[in-house]
Amino acid sequence: MTVNVEIDGEIAIVTIENPPVNALSGTVRQRLLALADALDGDPNVRAVVLTGAGKLFVAGADIAEFDRPPEPPFLPDVVARIEAAAKPWIAAIRGAALGGGLELALGCRFRVATASARFALPEINLGIIPGAGGTQRLPRVVGVTEAIRIVAENHSPDGREALRLGLVDTLVDEPLVPGAVAFARAVVGQALSPTSIERVVPAPAANVWTEAEARITASARGAAAPPQALQALKHGIEHGVEAGLALERSTFLALRATEEAAALRHLFFAERAALRPAELRALSPRPIETVGVVGGGTMGSGIAAALLNAGLSIVLIEQDEASVLRARSTLAGLFESSRRRGLMSDEVASEWMARLETSIGYGAAERCDLVIEAVFEDLAVKRSVFAELGRVCRPDAIHATNTSYIDPRLIADGLPGPERFLGLHFFSPAQVMKLLEIVPTPDTALDVLATGYDLARRLGKVPVRSGICDGFIGNRILRSYRTEAEALVCGGVDIAAVDAAMRAFGFAMGPFEMQDMAGLDIAYLYREAARARGMPVPDMPGDLLVRAGRKGQKTGGGWYDYAADDRRPKTSMDAQRIIAPLVGAKKEMAGEAIVSRLMATMAEEGHAILAEGIALGAADIDLVEVHGYGFPRKRGGPMFQAGRLGKT
Ligand code: COA
Repeated sequence: MTVNVEIDGEIAIVTIENPPVNALSGTVRQRLLALADALDGDPNVRAVVLTGAGKLFVAGADIAEFDRPPEPPFLPDVVARIEAAAKPWIAAIRGAALGGGLELALGCRFRVATASARFALPEINLGIIPGAGGTQRLPRVVGVTEAIRIVAENHSPDGREALRLGLVDTLVDEPLVPGAVAFARAVVGQALSPTSIERVVPAPAANVWTEAEARITASARGAAAPPQALQALKHGIEHGVEAGLALERSTFLALRATEEAAALRHLFFAERAALRPAELRALSPRPIETVGVVGGGTMGSGIAAALLNAGLSIVLIEQDEASVLRARSTLAGLFESSRRRGLMSDEVASEWMARLETSIGYGAAERCDLVIEAVFEDLAVKRSVFAELGRVCRPDAIHATNTSYIDPRLIADGLPGPERFLGLHFFSPAQVMKLLEIVPTPDTALDVLATGYDLARRLGKVPVRSGICDGFIGNRILRSYRTEAEALVCGGVDIAAVDAAMRAFGFAMGPFEMQDMAGLDIAYLYREAARARGMPVPDMPGDLLVRAGRKGQKTGGGWYDYAADDRRPKTSMDAQRIIAPLVGAKKEMAGEAIVSRLMATMAEEGHAILAEGIALGAADIDLVEVHGYGFPRKRGGPMFQAGRLGKT
C-alpha cells in the first residue's frame, strides 16, 4: 500500500509509505486525492494527520517521472484539494519535507515537526522550479524575504528555524505521530485559520526584488531556474495568487522539458548510483578511523584537509622537519582562506589544526587503518614508500596510491599485501574537488574496494571506479580533448575562439586558458617521455611553446601573455609566431562547431573507455568530467551530450 489510513478516535492518520523516500508518484497522488474526498465525507473524522513512513516525510515529486509527460492527478490539484478540505489536515514532519513534500505540507492547515526536520525546495538544483504552489504559498506563510532564500537560494531551515519563521506551528518530540494526534485533538472544534494561500503577505520594499535579482542572477551563473523561481514568486505577490500559480506552473512545465533539467536529473541519479555499486552492496567496508597521508605537498595537504573535514584522525608523514613545517603551513593557509571566506569558523579551524598530527618517518603508520601515498609521481619513489609501509603497517591496513598516471600494478608489484592495495586518485584541490577515481588492481580484495567507496562517502566525494589504463578515465579524456583543441588550432582556428566557445558552452575556462593556469610542462614531459620510449608522438604546438620557455602563467605566458599579477589572458603574438610552423591558414569556425568537434572527441574517447571496460557505465564518465574537470553540470557530461545528439 502506498498510502495507509488508520483511525484513532476522531483523528485519521494518513501515512505515505513509498520507499525509499516517499516520493509523490502517480499512485500516491491518486490515493491522496481519493482520501481527501473520503475523509471529508466521513462524519466520524474531525481532523487528519498526514505523515510519511520511515525516516522522512516526503522527498518531493518522483524525479523518475520527469522524463515522461505529466500524468494526472497533478500535484498542484492534490495540494489544492487537501487545502480545501472541510477538516483540518496536519502535516507531521520528521527527517525532511523537500520539494513537493514541502508543497504538500503547505497545503495542510497546520504543520508540526521534529526539531531536526529539514525543509527545502531544492527544485532549482534539478533545473526546475517548484510546480505545486511552493512559490506562492511559502511567501504567504513565512514572508517574502525568507521565501526568496528558500525558493531561489537553496536555504533549508531546520525544525527550530521553521518554527521561528512560522512555517511550523509547533515542534514535537518523537514519537512524532502521537504528538501530532494530540495537536490535532487540540485544534478540533476551533475556528479554522486561513489556509496558506488565503494569507495576506505585505509586499516588500522595491529594493528587496532588485537586490534578490542581482544576487540570484550572479550566483546562478547562467542556470535558468533560480531567476525564474524568483520571478514566479514575485509575480504572485505583485499580481495575485492566481496569476502567480499560473506562471509557476507554466514555468515548471517549460523548464522540466529542457535539456538542462534532463542533464541535472541524469546527474542526480548517477551521483546516487555511484555511491552504491551493485557488486559491493552486500559487503561491509573495513573500519577506518586513523588515516596516514604520506607526502605533505599540495596533493597530500589537500587530502589531509579533506580527511580532517570528515572528522577522521590523520597523521601526515614527511621525511624531515622542514617538510613537516611546510605541510603544516600549507594546511594552515588552506584553513585560513576558508575562514576568511566565511566557510569555516575560528573554532573549527583551530580544532582541525589541533587534530592534525604530523610525523617524521614511517613509525606513525603503525597505528593507521589506511595510508594514502601522495608523493612525487615517480614509480621508484612510490615503490619505496610502500616497501616502508609494508614493514611498518598492521597486516590489515589498507594501502592506497594517489597516482594519476602510473599503473598501480607496477607500484604494488612484489610488495606485501597486494589484496589491501588500491588506487585512490584525488583531484586538486583535493579538499574541494568532488571526484575520487577508485582504481583497484586485479588483486584488490572486494572489501578493500568497498572501503574506498565508504571513504568517498564519508569525505562527501563522488567515487568512480576506473580500470587501469594510461591516465585512467579522466586524464585520458582530458588528453584527447586537449589534443583535439590543438588540432583545431593547427587547422587555423584562433586560440581565443576555441576558449570562447567552450566558455559559452559553460566551462569556466577554455582548454588553452586552463593549460596556462595548470602549466603546459606536465603534458609536454609526458609526451617527451613517450618519444624517448620510441613512440611516434608528433610535435604539437604546446611542445613548441614549452621549448620556447612558455609554460603558462607561471612563466608569464603560454598560449597567451599575462601581465604581472593579472591572470587575464591577452592574445600573444609571440606564441603565435612560435607555433606558426604547425599552423595552417586562418579559418573561421562557429562556436557551436568548435563545441561539437570537442564534444565528439570526448565522447569517442569515452566510448573507447567503455568498450575496454575501463569505466563501468557511461554515466560514470559523465561524473568524472563534471566533478573532476569542470564540465558544466547543466550539460550533463560528454556521454549525456552524445546521447542527446544521437536522439536528434
Ligand atoms: N524521486 C525519485 N527518487 C528519489 C527521489 C525523488 N524525489 N529522491 C531520492 N530518490 C532515490 C534516489 O535516487 C536513491 O535511489 P537508489 O537507492 O535507487 O539509488 C534513493 O531514493 C535514496 O536516495 P539517496 O539520496 O541515496 O538517500 P539519502 O538518504 O542520502 O538522501 C534525500 C535522501 C531525500 C535527502 C535525497 O535523496 C534528496 O535530496 N532527494 C531529492 C530531493 C529533491 O530534489 N526533491 C525535489 C524533487 S522535484
